Amino acid sequence: MNLATDYLGLKLRSPFVVGASPFCDDTALAERLQDAGAGALVMRSLFGEQFESAPLPVAPPAPDASAVAMDAFPEYAAYQFTPEAYLRQLRHLKSHLAIPIIASLNGHHAGGWGDYARRLADAGADAIEVNFYRVVTDVTVAADEVEEAMLAAVGQIAGAVAIPVSVKLSPFHTAIAQLAVALELAGARGLVLFNRFYQPDVNIDDLEVQSQLRLSESSELLLRLRWMAILSPHVRGTLVATGGIHTAADAVKSILTGAHAIQIVSEVLRHGPRAISSLIVGLQQWMGEHSFADLDQFRGMLNTSRCRNSSAFERANYIRTLQSWGR
Ligand SMILES: Cc1cc2nc3c(=O)[nH]c(=O)nc-3n(C[C@H](O)[C@H](O)[C@H](O)COP(=O)(O)O)c2cc1C
Repeated sequence: MNLATDYLGLKLRSPFVVGASPFCDDTALAERLQDAGAGALVMRSLFGEQFESAPLPVAPPAPDASAVAMDAFPEYAAYQFTPEAYLRQLRHLKSHLAIPIIASLNGHHAGGWGDYARRLADAGADAIEVNFYRVVTDVTVAADEVEEAMLAAVGQIAGAVAIPVSVKLSPFHTAIAQLAVALELAGARGLVLFNRFYQPDVNIDDLEVQSQLRLSESSELLLRLRWMAILSPHVRGTLVATGGIHTAADAVKSILTGAHAIQIVSEVLRHGPRAISSLIVGLQQWMGEHSFADLDQFRGMLNTSRCRNSSAFERANYIRTLQSWGR
């Protein structure tokens, strides 16, 4: 059974990609993920804030050297890799692994990313994933300003390198469909749906706001499936599902709605590399039961391509679902 897939123009032997996370910090662990069947690995992100005070610092900057208010950010040393160390680790991974290694840049505007993106490409990155994690709290910033900054950043990075660039999107945009197409026009070869926002909770005993990193659950996939199905007929590049993929059934649903690949992190954090081998076995088993020999045979089968007005369809489904309560 053939699980090969196209990912931003790269040929992957399996659709299971380990998403941006600390796994690639350790080359031996990255090799185990490769041995378990991962099609590619995404390195943890390098953050835009690391470039804003001084481009490509090789040593931690003095605390007051920053042009932006850095006090809210972790100490420089708290970032796992300096930009130089990131390049070193990328070269190390590339010299030990055969599967594609994807670098990740994380911020909300291009800043000094153009030069650095070139250095990532020179160090061997097979692709760059750009994560626009941003919570817009400024009451004077409008949606189009946010999107224009994203498009400019994608244009800058994609224009600087020959390797493919993908964008990891937030679900909190007003018009995701238009934005998705605009990102492709700006140079993105693929979209990763969606970023997970780490939402603080409130501790009612200590009367404090609590930051926490909760691993995902399969229920979070539903939001991704909806947008995968909506965008799949309209985008030309690669669609990647991420957020809440834990079982082979989750992977099958993602592909049926249009995903070319699936990024997983929480499941691998819980179960280690064997999570990937079990997903592969489960996907192959399902394909066997349904007589599919490769992913192309069922990719996008349940997307909205046969629906002439998917907005009206979504609205009708919404009303029908509300009416179905208690029946
Ligand atoms: C410990 C941890 C570290 C992560 N680090 C990054 C990161 O550096 N950059 C990024 O874009 N996403 C990061 N993520 C988000 C994951 O790449 C992924 O999008 C998210 O966990 C959803 O996938 P999952 O449901 O399989 O966990 C991280 C997630 C976890 C749990």
